[in-house]
Amino acid sequence: MPSSNSNSHDTVRALQWTHGALQVLDQRKLPASIEYDTYDNAAGVTEAIASMRVRGAPAIGIAAAYGVVLAARARYHENPAEWKSLIQADLDRLAASRPTAVNLFWALDRMREVIAGTEGDPEASLLAAALAIHQDDLAANRRMGELGADLLQGSSGVLTHCNTGSLATGGYGTALGVIRSAHARGLQHIYANETRPWLQGARLTVWELDQDRIPATLIADSAAAWLMRSGAVQWVIVGADRIAANGDTANKIGTYSLAVNARHHGVKFMVAAPTSTIDWSIPSGEAIEIEQRDRNELLNEHFRGPDHVIDAWNPVFDVTPAQLVDAIVTERGVVLKPDAESMRALIAH
Ligand code: MRU
Repeated sequence: MPSSNSNSHDTVRALQWTHGALQVLDQRKLPASIEYDTYDNAAGVTEAIASMRVRGAPAIGIAAAYGVVLAARARYHENPAEWKSLIQADLDRLAASRPTAVNLFWALDRMREVIAGTEGDPEASLLAAALAIHQDDLAANRRMGELGADLLQGSSGVLTHCNTGSLATGGYGTALGVIRSAHARGLQHIYANETRPWLQGARLTVWELDQDRIPATLIADSAAAWLMRSGAVQWVIVGADRIAANGDTANKIGTYSLAVNARHHGVKFMVAAPTSTIDWSIPSGEAIEIEQRDRNELLNEHFRGPDHVIDAWNPVFDVTPAQLVDAIVTERGVVLKPDAESMRALIAH
């Protein structure tokens, strides 16, 4: 059951820390069934991220932070004198769960800092850090929602890709948070791409919007250019898994093609992401590792097995060059026409 929340247009939560364990809404099973699994060890959390029970860059980072709390509890009880060295293997396994979303590494770095500064039983201080990462993400999303909705003034329709909502974050969502805020201000038409092959749009985004009674229209990914040509949308709004220092943006496969199509049709292109998604260590998107997932997520089962000669290429992210992005919306402000200089200004003050 989706958790209760005072805002009736934001009722879904992917992650909850209760009774000393992490509850994870299994997104592989949505929308057919709504099941929370309970994790009381870091190996389980690592597997939940790798298998995409929890997915979406900010949610991956938050889950990993709670995973560190569980790892520290176990390692401290195993050996109070050596737990800081024992936990390194757990941190490495969490870091290897998915390669592209930088929020994972960002969250693990924050938890490493707390580990370094902790003496005695670490659980309370690490839990406080994980809860802060979770709450800060929700607050950042609400702020981005308002900033992004400001840019949509006068627009009647938007198109989004993948799932960037409460399911993918600490709550409210990044791109879907902007759409949530714009809906509250009267935005009329929300189009959601199906998002093949994993169907984050068809299974997750429309489920989440349905839960919150926000009307939306699902389209096949291949209908996006035709939708833009019809004039029904003025903005494409997406999230990000990693943004390079020059604004190049890695996001769900298909995002790049949407950006090319948007520029061709005079439709604006917005990326909404918290600053925890910006990887200042890489100058451009060329350095971003693109996750390749199992061919069988794509390949029809008919073609599996030794009797067949068909392979599948399944990169699950792509990189959109900053030149195709009109605005990057973060909780610290909006970067219009992103490049290395305008991005730097975001953190200059
Ligand atoms: O493979 P996924 O479902 O984890 O990919 C998610 C996306 O690409 C999202 O657009 C991105 O993480 C931003 S979520 C707020």
